[in-house]
Amino acid sequence: MKILFLGDVMGRAGRKAITERLPGLRGDWGLDFIVVNGENASAGAGLTPDHARGILDAGADCVTLGDHAFDQKDMLRFIESEPRILRPLNYAKEAPGKGARLFSDARGRKILVTQALGQVFMKRPFDDPFSAVDAVLRAHPLGGLAQAILVDMHCEATSEKMAMGHWCDGRASMVVGTHTHVPTADAMILGGGTAYLSDAGMSGDYNSVIGMDKAEPMRRFITGMGRERFTPAEGEATLSGFYVETDDRTGHAKRCTPVRVGGRLAQVTPLSAAV
Ligand SMILES: [Fe+2]
Ligand SMILES: [Fe+2]
Repeated sequence: MKILFLGDVMGRAGRKAITERLPGLRGDWGLDFIVVNGENASAGAGLTPDHARGILDAGADCVTLGDHAFDQKDMLRFIESEPRILRPLNYAKEAPGKGARLFSDARGRKILVTQALGQVFMKRPFDDPFSAVDAVLRAHPLGGLAQAILVDMHCEATSEKMAMGHWCDGRASMVVGTHTHVPTADAMILGGGTAYLSDAGMSGDYNSVIGMDKAEPMRRFITGMGRERFTPAEGEATLSGFYVETDDRTGHAKRCTPVRVGGRLAQVTPLSAAV
């Protein structure tokens, strides 16, 4: 199965890149399944139903969220009616929606997608992600009900992400980090067959401070005082993510590469690079 994961869509610039570029990528790269992290798509904070529909209509088969899952309050209701949107498994006990779901691709192959929030350096205390992901993986063994399994590990610390990668090694097809908005250069296939990348990066304008217009974040760092709200940067976005090919029989990764399309970052596609 050929799977594309794209990191946090950031504001209008990120949505525009998704709408303009994602429809073509499915055909160009022969993609079977596309997952997009949408937690910052609406003004940098959360995801409105309209913007969620825009990402799904552009070709995403599944949209994951994150700590900003419900910043846009309409999502609290909308997520119950749109099963293609997942919130973190361990967001809160009473949270609406689901944190894991089994999807089918166009050929009927099953792919399980789940997302967990980390605990290190996060603003709110979330439940233990390792036991939460473990329960999901035990219920869906690779090569059984699921031909592929994708774990989106949404957190700040690369150490916690790497630990999750090894925790899932051999049990998931891929573990990809989100939340920091900066792509890491450690795409690899772990010993047990799981493709791993500490952070997918954002799908947003990199002429920014992690996707926000740089003036206000710089002012806060330099003077220690805020003056305005953060607003997303509006320049051309780079779609940034992780491409993985899996073996349908074992569910393990055969090939993986980071992806960066458009905008300011050095360009990488599945056709130009491989790990
Ligand atoms: Fe984010
Ligand atoms: Fe986040």
